Amino acid sequence: MRPNVQSGPGIHVQDMSHNIGPRRILDRISLQLDAPRIGVIGRNGSGKSTLARLLAGLIEPSQGRVLIEGVDVCKDRRAAISTVGILFQNPEHQIIFPTVLEEICFGLRQLGRNKADARDAALATLTGFGKAHWLDASTETLSQGQKHLLCMMAVMAMRPRWLILDEPFAGLDIPTRMQLTRHLENCGVNLVHISHDPRDLAGYAQICWLDRGQIRAKGDADVLSAFETEMIHEGARDDLADLAG
Ligand SMILES: Nc1ncnc2c1ncn2[C@@H]1O[C@H](COP(=O)(O)OP(=O)(O)OP(=O)(O)O)[C@@H](O)[C@H]1O
Ligand SMILES: [Mg+2]
Repeated sequence: MRPNVQSGPGIHVQDMSHNIGPRRILDRISLQLDAPRIGVIGRNGSGKSTLARLLAGLIEPSQGRVLIEGVDVCKDRRAAISTVGILFQNPEHQIIFPTVLEEICFGLRQLGRNKADARDAALATLTGFGKAHWLDASTETLSQGQKHLLCMMAVMAMRPRWLILDEPFAGLDIPTRMQLTRHLENCGVNLVHISHDPRDLAGYAQICWLDRGQIRAKGDADVLSAFETEMIHEGARDDLADLAG
């Protein structure tokens, strides 16, 4: 089946809203993004993970749509899986198989690769990361940092053009964080990196600030500075109402 190509390169979010039950989580988001490194910044509960899932086509927006490289990522799942991948905030939400080999092969099989071909590609990816000896390892026994790396390898093996990173390094130590970041930045994939921490997005060309389900600002590094200034101001208050949900 031919991909459902409907617009130009990059990411087009077209008047998208998303409700969960009676609550509006994202409200009329429109974005046109085409830089190779895009940052999305926002507070806890602002809707970042919901936006990440919508960008990856994993959930259907209540209104509007997301086109990536012209592919409607929710409606055309076959084209979407080679267009966009996602790394979740928590690797436990991503890993579903008992062994590393099965975990990496799953996505490759979804792309239509046969069993032997998928195994070869999985091994090549593991070898590229210096982890060929992980092939038959149990996913359950991996440390948190190792699970993050496995998720990254599984998604990289599928060679998507875009990768959505939903705070993928929370809880990792500094060297692991630096190493995984370096891998991501050198692998030639376009990144949408979602974080609550401006330090993660230093040097990114396009920044979107998500605030209570809406785009508060779009632009360059100035948006990060404005966000940081406001966060420090908010942090000086004692009110935890924003976490109440
Ligand atoms: N499955 C769900 N059912 C009900 N409410 C939800 C669900 N998922 C998210 N929400 C609500 O939607 C809002 C946005 O959640 P989301 O996880 O997208 O925020 P976030 O910016 O990723 O937060 P964090 O920085 O804490 O990861 C929150 O108020 C949350 O309570
Ligand atoms: Mg989140």
